[in-house]
Amino acid sequence: MAIEEIWKDVDLYFKTKLHAADPLLDAVLKANAEAGLPAIDVTPNQGKLLYLLAKIIGATAILEIGTLGGYSSIWLARALPDDGKLITLEYNKKHAEVAAANVKKAGLDKKIEIVVGPALETLPTLEKRGFRSFDLIFIDADRKNHPSYLKWALKLARPGTVIVADNVVRRGRILDESSADLEIQGVRRFIDLLSEETRIEATAVQTVSGKGYDGFVIGVVNG
Ligand SMILES: C[S@@+](CC[C@H](N)C(=O)[O-])C[C@H]1O[C@@H](n2cnc3c(N)ncnc32)[C@H](O)[C@@H]1O
Repeated sequence: MAIEEIWKDVDLYFKTKLHAADPLLDAVLKANAEAGLPAIDVTPNQGKLLYLLAKIIGATAILEIGTLGGYSSIWLARALPDDGKLITLEYNKKHAEVAAANVKKAGLDKKIEIVVGPALETLPTLEKRGFRSFDLIFIDADRKNHPSYLKWALKLARPGTVIVADNVVRRGRILDESSADLEIQGVRRFIDLLSEETRIEATAVQTVSGKGYDGFVIGVVNG
């Protein structure tokens, strides 16, 4: 059996054993596929990890950069208390529309706000609106802008904020320092910034799943 098949089967084994049946999230993925969105959402096990992280830290305010169809937004928002809020940033209007419909279907439209526009233009508007202390920030948009997203995340964080950034391994291509791929270069600059930044302590976790070999960075903002 090919190793990728084993990754996929093990991922499914844990999902089947450890997740309750979830027709809503199944319907979200179906709606995304029917609308022609790329299947680049986090996996169910990664979604549950985000949910657990938000729950463990008692998050009440979450920022997500990169909505797609709202799959990870819904996982994260489910961990919020009644008065909790998740702001998610998406520049693609169609993705945002599909996400809005999914969020409504999930009954989370009071908790989730989708802000449409390029994140580097909408992040300053959040600062102007007074958001300065998100509890958890999930970076999952265009990797070439990972370094700028880290700078913004630090601006919109408080001591103790957890920052997660997805897709930092890319099947190991992260090691290619002469890569012509702007996404790889973006992630490499992001890792360099992290290594120099004293305001955050971070590590990276490599992952294998039904979506291949990748990984994420997780860090906490220092007090
Ligand atoms: C990997 S997908 C997000 C997946 C989502 N977090 C999930 O797991 O369900 C990345 C999303 O970021 C959006 N995106 C890419 N560049 C962006 C930018 N500059 N500003 C805002 N959104 C952007 C894409 O349109 C896409 O929908």
